[in-house]
Amino acid sequence: MTFEDYTQPVKILVTGATGQVGSAIVQGADDEPFFSVVGLGPKELDITSQEQIREKLDLYLPDYVINCAGFNGVDAAQHEHERCYAVNAEGVEKLAAACGDLSIPVVHLSSDFVFDGHYDSGYREDDEVSPLGVYGDSKWQGEEALRRVLPQHLILRASWIFSESGNNFVTRTLERARSQLEIKAVNDRIGNPTAASDLARVVLAMLKQIHNGAEAWGTYHYCGAEVTNRYSFCKEIISLAMGYEELAMEKLTSVSASHYPKEAQRPSSSVLECKKLLNTFGIHQRPWRSDLSEVIRFHYQSRKQALQD
Ligand SMILES: NC(=O)c1ccc[n+]([C@@H]2O[C@H](COP(=O)([O-])OP(=O)(O)OC[C@H]3O[C@@H](n4cnc5c(N)ncnc54)[C@H](OP(=O)(O)O)[C@@H]3O)[C@@H](O)[C@H]2O)c1
Repeated sequence: MTFEDYTQPVKILVTGATGQVGSAIVQGADDEPFFSVVGLGPKELDITSQEQIREKLDLYLPDYVINCAGFNGVDAAQHEHERCYAVNAEGVEKLAAACGDLSIPVVHLSSDFVFDGHYDSGYREDDEVSPLGVYGDSKWQGEEALRRVLPQHLILRASWIFSESGNNFVTRTLERARSQLEIKAVNDRIGNPTAASDLARVVLAMLKQIHNGAEAWGTYHYCGAEVTNRYSFCKEIISLAMGYEELAMEKLTSVSASHYPKEAQRPSSSVLECKKLLNTFGIHQRPWRSDLSEVIRFHYQSRKQALQD
């Protein structure tokens, strides 16, 4: 390596850059001189298209690709199999093959939904997978394709991702609390909420160490610190939101998931053990509670701005 190599920013290309994790990674990387980042949404790069993948790799010649593209409709996946597998499994395989041809390592986001959730002490990376639905299975197929095709990969499984905008549990809860007198939330699904911005911090920290020579390819888990359940998470969101606006909601009721039938079954425990990440990269879990108050603050800031515009 020459001195110039050290001073050149590391070029990363982010797919699915209009999503919550993709946009957080682009923003995080933009703030760091270590990285130079290109974020492409699905209109600029559709990962189901081999041609588009090759065209964008040739154009940008990134040092790393971070794949945040995903079909994330857990219920929709049950009747949209083809589209779900095309993005989450075959799309990942196409991306991996094209990156492999150019020796570009790939960082890929996966999910706690590869597990069935029957074990609530925290899933480890090498625990047996057993997806409950099409979405979880498609994420597992995507992981396997990446492992098979490209040894230089990082797979990061995360859970319960939230951010200030887009479609996630926090924004959905706020919408419901604005329009409904009573909200029901399940008390028997547990997990660790994870802020998209926190996940971005973790991905970029891993990448820095990899770029600096850490031989640590493989699969890792990350989620925010502190296990909770959907009801308690909902309660925390509402209580923070009440500091910003008067909500229509008067009652929050705790119910069992069996009273809330959904098209796709969900794991009752999404708890991921994150020791491998700590032992390998020295990355600690950040408490989701502090991230949540920031996210709610950002949410109301941009809402106020939008109302003024
Ligand atoms: N959300 C969670 O709680 C959660 C939990 C664990 C793991 N994950 C994983 O984390 C990753 C990022 O999740 P997220 O929450 O940021 O999801 P998100 O907000 O839904 O973002 C996904 C992005 O991928 C785009 N996309 C869809 N199909 C595409 C295609 N064919 N080519 C390129 N881009 C495409 C979406 O665009 P459109 O919006 O226009 O479709 C969107 O911009 C995903 O792999 C997901 O499976 C998510």
